[in-house]
Amino acid sequence: MDVRILWVYKLQIFSGHRPPQSWLLLCLVSVFVLIALLGSSSSSAFNSVTVSVKPEVYTNYRRLKEQTASDYVELKTFSSGASNPKEIRLCGKEREDYVPCYNVSANLLAGFKDGEEFDRHCEVSQDQPYCLVRPPRDYRTPLSWPVGRDVIWNANVKISKDQFLSSGSMTKRLMLLEENQISFHSDDELIFDGVKDHSRQVAEMIGLGSDAEFWQAGVRTVLDIGCGFGSFGAHLLSLKLMAVCMAAYELTGSQVQLSLERGLPAIIGNFISRKLPFPSLSYDMVHCAKCGVSWDQKDGMFLIEANRILKPGGYFVLHETSLSTETRSMIEGFTHKICWTLIGRQEETFIWQKTTDPQCYSSSTQGVIPPCRKEHEDIHSYYQPLASCVAGTDSKRWLPVQNKSSGVQQDEFFEDFESSRSALRNYWSLLTPLIFSDHPKRPADEDPLPPYNMIRNVMDMNARFGGLNFAFLEAGKSAWVMNVVSISTRNTLPLILDQGFIGVLHDWCEPFPTYPRTYDMLHANGLLSSLMSEGCSITNLLLEMDRILRPEGWVVLSDKVGPIENARMITTQIRWEARVIDLENDSDQRLLVCKKPFVRK
Ligand SMILES: *[C@@H]1O[C@H](CO)[C@@H](O)[C@H](O)[C@H]1NC(C)=O
Ligand SMILES: *[C@@H]1O[C@H](CO)[C@@H](O)[C@H](O)[C@H]1NC(C)=O
Ligand SMILES: *[C@@H]1O[C@H](CO)[C@@H](O)[C@H](O)[C@H]1NC(C)=O
Repeated sequence: MDVRILWVYKLQIFSGHRPPQSWLLLCLVSVFVLIALLGSSSSSAFNSVTVSVKPEVYTNYRRLKEQTASDYVELKTFSSGASNPKEIRLCGKEREDYVPCYNVSANLLAGFKDGEEFDRHCEVSQDQPYCLVRPPRDYRTPLSWPVGRDVIWNANVKISKDQFLSSGSMTKRLMLLEENQISFHSDDELIFDGVKDHSRQVAEMIGLGSDAEFWQAGVRTVLDIGCGFGSFGAHLLSLKLMAVCMAAYELTGSQVQLSLERGLPAIIGNFISRKLPFPSLSYDMVHCAKCGVSWDQKDGMFLIEANRILKPGGYFVLHETSLSTETRSMIEGFTHKICWTLIGRQEETFIWQKTTDPQCYSSSTQGVIPPCRKEHEDIHSYYQPLASCVAGTDSKRWLPVQNKSSGVQQDEFFEDFESSRSALRNYWSLLTPLIFSDHPKRPADEDPLPPYNMIRNVMDMNARFGGLNFAFLEAGKSAWVMNVVSISTRNTLPLILDQGFIGVLHDWCEPFPTYPRTYDMLHANGLLSSLMSEGCSITNLLLEMDRILRPEGWVVLSDKVGPIENARMITTQIRWEARVIDLENDSDQRLLVCKKPFVRK
């Protein structure tokens, strides 16, 4: 069991000269400190530590009074919460791989059809009772990167016998090893050559000497639709490209679940009736190898959506073994309408390039899909219905893939990077079970040794300009970051994507489109206060974080003292180890560092 520490209230408030009127309030505070101390000794895991107690003399009497009054309110909430912390129960076994918003039978009952039942419908399955998703019985901590990229534990993912038996397509090959492991890769080129050959072929078809030249040619971000088990993306990562796997929700053998388990970027998504949660002009390449999208259907709407997220001069790669002549001519006909040029065809692989000329879509050109009017532009295209128009043609971001520039960087960028750089240094040193012990570590102590920092899949839940991602890269950590931009904040996602990072728009009042246990670390700076001001449930948010965090994964929340105290109370209910860190510099900011336990009783 963990060692519990009494909650120590910041004592600096009792030092220095005070005007006499404040003594009454101070006495009240002391009483509540006492209540809190007694209360916490009988309840579980209310861990907090004051890193430094710097005597700070308040010269401003009014500020002191306000401070004391608000502390009083927080202490009251705290002690009443501590007296009866109701623990949230565990979900049943049927919810081990639960992804909210994707209940196909409930969607059918609600009247969705023609494929829309496979879409994300959060409104259909709302108001589920609170429960904590538990891991499968034989769940084991994933192997660390890079070994974990090629070998995963069988019990950690849901995959059927049939899915093992079928040899799979180029991107879906896997092998069951002894000791209940699944292997995706082998040095035996004869068995696993498909993906590398394919990558070389694509590079040659776009006129490069080899696939090592993708980066110089401006191809840095790839959306791999229906990625198999992510092997193509894994190969691209080794070439320093960022490939995101995107696939529809699947009950078993999920491409997204398996990719994430391998430490590869992935997200659940489809575009049967709604746009993807990415802005226009996001990716340098869209890749589909037998990805299951019927590109010839729905009056070309799927191709229009692929065109929307492609950057000018970007590539659309289609690898399909059994395209009928009809389907092919339909696709080829439609690609003209969206100003794509077929630049290569070899066997079953086709590559089109999107035009770099926005004038191509001008409404005077016969038969071409016209540009979107303002109301269909996608400043916040959060799951909006698909639209039959071309977005982004008069955007400042209409920059051909081949003309990668360093971009105009504002001061805000640098601020975000600078603060993230020092924040990461601090967080990293805190990510050790030691901080929950009697002798907590202080920020910026020496790095803990593995395995405590086995961190590969990171989510920055309120990513701003992608500063944390930048800091991870700069520090040379072998992690990737899913940059999430909350729809309630300024839409900085285009700026994040233009740096070659990956990211997605999301409404944190709703569940995130991923499988349980898919992230090793969740980070959120300022998200709690922004959600509280919107009236969203912090309990729902933390339960959702618990779902997507793997056992023994880490959470780092940075916020104002009020929301942090609020969240800390909930961490007791969901049985996380948690500690509040009082930042030395800034009196109002706190860090909440938490770890999800491996087993919960
Ligand atoms: C999905 O919806 C059906 C029908 O409403 C319901 O019976 C079932 O429990 C739901 N499944 C999950 C995992 O919530
Ligand atoms: C892109 O680069 C080409 C060749 O270097 C140049 O001619 C063209 O003007 C550039 N386009 C833009 C939009 O910067
Ligand atoms: C932290 O301290 C430094 C130097 O004392 C100061 O320049 C900076 O503004 C402080 N930061 C905050 C957030 O208070």
